Amino acid sequence: MVNFAKFSLERVIELRWWTDTLLSVKTTRPESFRFESGQFTMLGFQTSQKYAYRAFSMVNSIYDPYLEFYCKIIPGGVVSDILKSIKIGDAIVIGKTPIGTLLVRDLNDGHNLWLLSTGTGLAPFLSILQDEYVYRRFNTINLIHSVRYADDLSYSEFITKNLVANPLIGTHAQRQLHYFPLTTREPNHTNSRVTALFDHDLLLSQVTTNSDRFMLCGSHPFNNDVSAILLGKSFKKSNHLGEPGDFLVEKAFLDK
Ligand code: A2P
Repeated sequence: MVNFAKFSLERVIELRWWTDTLLSVKTTRPESFRFESGQFTMLGFQTSQKYAYRAFSMVNSIYDPYLEFYCKIIPGGVVSDILKSIKIGDAIVIGKTPIGTLLVRDLNDGHNLWLLSTGTGLAPFLSILQDEYVYRRFNTINLIHSVRYADDLSYSEFITKNLVANPLIGTHAQRQLHYFPLTTREPNHTNSRVTALFDHDLLLSQVTTNSDRFMLCGSHPFNNDVSAILLGKSFKKSNHLGEPGDFLVEKAFLDK
């Protein structure tokens, strides 16, 4: 049974398949649902016998009348099995209490913000980039999205076109936002892994504890490896909500 004190019954209103395994799901928004950009919530899907739950970050802006989630189908995952045949109009239960540690307000002041993501770890950053607050806090905001193949660069058009045309943050995005898509297994602009970009003369080689701040959202190995590099350069990690730091980490929301 679903605990409706904690979950709200909503509907799927739009679906977009980016590839065979990547899709975006738009749902109705629970009336009293409030969240901060960068947070996630639990989504519940009815299986034949019970509900299966998985955490997803909100992609949409805090003001949108709907919620949007960016999902990866993982072979053998219970939720993935349901997502594979999801249809518009389907019921979905949504946790009423969003959570998560990727909150811009927990970052120490700085000049440049680096949003480092792999795969569906991009999701919370899309919400953050639609929030005026991040543009007030930092002079430049650099979004790095690392994927294996160019087809996996979901939302690239949204980032390069829609964000700069957005009436609330468009002028800020035009001036302050820089987008770096990485395709590590296919020739493109950049084929390096994020971790390699800290090497001599590359994009992240000049970062300093005075001016640069980071938010990380990707697989465990990615989060761990990038964290180790940043700690090695004396950047301070925020260990929990409300603790200020030079960088914040959230794991990507993989299927169970
Ligand atoms: P690579 O293609 O070199 O493995 P995945 O689909 O496996 O989650 O990977 C998504 C992206 O994250 C890929 O570009 C992948 O690069 C990169 N990636 C995975 N693990 C790491 C890591 N430990 N450090 C840096 N990049 C990583």
